[in-house]
Amino acid sequence: MSRRSRVVLKIAVWAICLAPLVALLYRAATHDLGANPISFVTNWLGDWTLRLLLASLAMTPLRILLGLSWPIQLRRLLGLFAFSYASLHFGVWLVLDHFFDWREMGADIAKRPFVTVGMTALLLMMPLAATSTAAAIRKLGGRNWQRLHRLAYAIGVCGVLHYLWLAKKANPAPYYYATVLALLLAIRVWDWGRRRVSRLRTEGIAPMATAGVRSLSRQARRQEEGRS
Ligand code: HEM
Repeated sequence: MSRRSRVVLKIAVWAICLAPLVALLYRAATHDLGANPISFVTNWLGDWTLRLLLASLAMTPLRILLGLSWPIQLRRLLGLFAFSYASLHFGVWLVLDHFFDWREMGADIAKRPFVTVGMTALLLMMPLAATSTAAAIRKLGGRNWQRLHRLAYAIGVCGVLHYLWLAKKANPAPYYYATVLALLLAIRVWDWGRRRVSRLRTEGIAPMATAGVRSLSRQARRQEEGRS
């Protein structure tokens, strides 16, 4: 992909990720936040957190299935936007729902399991956001960074559980998100299995091939010696 196309793609992703926030601000300015504005804003930001989180998790499976490299360049941007929406979502709960009442907040986290897993997802997102820079990758080392960033799937599971737990039974939306997450995870597991099998094959074949070459050259040497 050319540099120009990459820039265009990134601008498009920025626009798509900022559009829900602009739309929310517009609705707030035009007093169009429904009968319970706090709940509306919390749910709006929560929905977009989950969508962007799943979009960032979809980038590696896209590369695996289509063999394209550009989705990987968008993974970090989408992940950081998901974290920004999660922080705003949490901020609304902190400021508008509980007015900085720490005791009440602690009780809410302990009492309502959906808040506990939501909080867990946000806490797990923090080290990933903090290590998203090129300098952090260099400092951690590629392998450690990769290991740490596998947490993204645990965050996805917590995000989906959070929604499954809080939604009414008749609401099908959390099941759609759960299905998408399960598919993305299945693609990763399938790819991991495929790579492991091919590594085991090459590891098994390589020593056999080396032994074969050695025995052939030994035979050739013996034949040479027999002729002379
Ligand atoms: C990665 C982190 C998170 C994700 C993906 C997420 C996602 C969501 C989603 C999808 C909804 C429901 C939206 C709807 O019904 O349309 C929601 C609602 C909610 N979330 Fe989160 N959330 C996260 C973190 C948190 C945290 C840290 C808190 C607070 C500690 C929190 C508190 C709430 C509350 C109270 C609601 C219900 C709002 C209402 O019904 O009025 N969430 N969240």
